Amino acid sequence: MSKEFVVAVCGATGAVGQEMLSVLEQRDFPYSKLVPMASARSAGKKVDCKGEEYTVIEMTEDAFEGVDIALFSAGGSTSEKFAPCAVKSGCVVVDNSSAWRMNDECPLVVPEVNPHDLDWHKGIIANPNCSTIQMMVALKPLHDEARIKRVVVSTYQAVSGTGQKAIEELENQVRRLMSGQPVVADVYPYQIAFNCLPHIDVFMDNGYTKEEMKMVNETVKIMGDPTIKVTATCVRVPVFYGHSESLNIETEEKLTAADVRTILAKAPGIIVEDYPEKKAYPMAINAAGEDATFVGRIREDETIENGINMWIVSDNIRKGAALNTIQIAETLIERDLVRVP
Ligand code: A2P
Repeated sequence: MSKEFVVAVCGATGAVGQEMLSVLEQRDFPYSKLVPMASARSAGKKVDCKGEEYTVIEMTEDAFEGVDIALFSAGGSTSEKFAPCAVKSGCVVVDNSSAWRMNDECPLVVPEVNPHDLDWHKGIIANPNCSTIQMMVALKPLHDEARIKRVVVSTYQAVSGTGQKAIEELENQVRRLMSGQPVVADVYPYQIAFNCLPHIDVFMDNGYTKEEMKMVNETVKIMGDPTIKVTATCVRVPVFYGHSESLNIETEEKLTAADVRTILAKAPGIIVEDYPEKKAYPMAINAAGEDATFVGRIREDETIENGINMWIVSDNIRKGAALNTIQIAETLIERDLVRVP
């Protein structure tokens, strides 16, 4: 990558924004200038990237003049308001919120799965939901081989997915509980420390949460196959970093557990960690800070003809958010697509 770009990190003070700065540094992303943006509250704060200090500026409608690529992670309403302003300024937006994901004008991309969808972007590219991304990385190679008919997924999602305030809420609750003090729940409706909440995002009329329906709908858009059926239960657990998922998959063609291990071992972005005899399986504490999606506990579902059970873990802030966003930006550069058509 020889050309360099002016890159804005929008939401640079948040949990994902901070991780974006680390990922830009670790991957030596080719920027000529970095523009960290956040709300007026953070204007003037300092952030670091590649050994240099940058001053955070307030995100405003005019702040995108001269910016080539804007990486957004500042919430849905902020993105709805500012992403179109950025595009109007000639800037390509990769957005981590849910605001644009199901918009027909916006590709929804996991670079290992559907990089070709970037070819039809009109300025805004959506980064999928964190739980969907890791599931897609693992499902695509199996779908190519044996056609997936149906997936039943249950998630065990870390608090970092809710943002910096939720990380602090879990820390504070643990500290208070261990010293015999009552807890305060502010970000979540109930205590999250030592608890599981089967409730992520808002409830919808069909009884599912919005998070669960994101997994259903985003899967179809990313895979480009409306016949794949997904049903999901999403649970917030008292883990700081790393989402875990239990998947039951039904395929058209038979796959043995050995077939699945072989296919996934060759797939991009995946590490198979499946050695029950050594008690080796993916865990959130090991996936945190890593780029890969880890897959283990691969077993044939003995109750149906063509079924597989498996356990998938990935760092929700990295592959589930910052890393995937930056991989999208890298793919745009590789395909010479950093321009608003
Ligand atoms: P700020 O720190 O100034 O509030 P998290 O997901 O960890 O909560 O982070 C959200 C990020 O989005 C933060 O950087 C936050 O900035 C930024 N943000 C939130 N609301 C706005 C807004 N209205 N305009 C610009 N940035 C915003």
